[in-house]
Amino acid sequence: MRRQPQIAPSILAADFADIRGSIALVPGADWLHIDVMDGHFVPNLSFGLPVAEAVRRSTDTFLDVHLMIEDPARWAPDYAAFGNVTFHLEAVADVDAAVALATTLREAGTRAGVSIKPGTPVEPLLDHLASFDTVLVMSVEPGFGGQSFMPEVLDKVRALRARIDADGLDTLVEIDGGIGPDTVGVSAEAGVDVFVAGSSVFGAENPGSRVTELRTTATRAVAGA
Ligand code: DX5
Ligand code: ZN
Repeated sequence: MRRQPQIAPSILAADFADIRGSIALVPGADWLHIDVMDGHFVPNLSFGLPVAEAVRRSTDTFLDVHLMIEDPARWAPDYAAFGNVTFHLEAVADVDAAVALATTLREAGTRAGVSIKPGTPVEPLLDHLASFDTVLVMSVEPGFGGQSFMPEVLDKVRALRARIDADGLDTLVEIDGGIGPDTVGVSAEAGVDVFVAGSSVFGAENPGSRVTELRTTATRAVAGA
């Protein structure tokens, strides 16, 4: 199946004092990625719903909320007006609880995603992929931008790709952490659909061109895979 790589610049690496201006730097972004951190699930605090809403008022681009928070069943439904809402598998009791929360989110009108940290196995999710619109594989420990890509997580991407294709599902595989010109191709070959990129986009001299470059590199890698 031919897949179209989607590039999702991460607002975490943007200028928080000028969100509108930062978004304007990446007009070719397919999605925009919004990292919500609570200082408990991860050792960092970013922002919550009011700032995420400010992003939503600033753009028509599809918005992808990544909740790095404890107790997502309590907070995630507040984000139902966003395009896709992803919570962490490690933040809920088990896979059944994750499926239940994803179902709640879908019923509230958004797409639902589940994310796994680098050390979390993917196998428990494989029989439940139809319940999720995205599976976000973290390629760094969540909490901070600008970390180095962990190539070993690509085995999880391959496992997801194989099951999604075998079962004919629409679930998208997303990767987050250390994605840039040197890592986007190998990730695309492994089977990623959506590429989150923070510092490599907003730290580039020309963020708009960087988005195009990442998409071109990913597209070529998929074509050659
Ligand atoms: C990290 C966040 C990422 C972060 C990625 O916990 O989930 O979305 O913005 O930043 P880079 O692309 O700089 O690794
Ligand atoms: Zn993220």
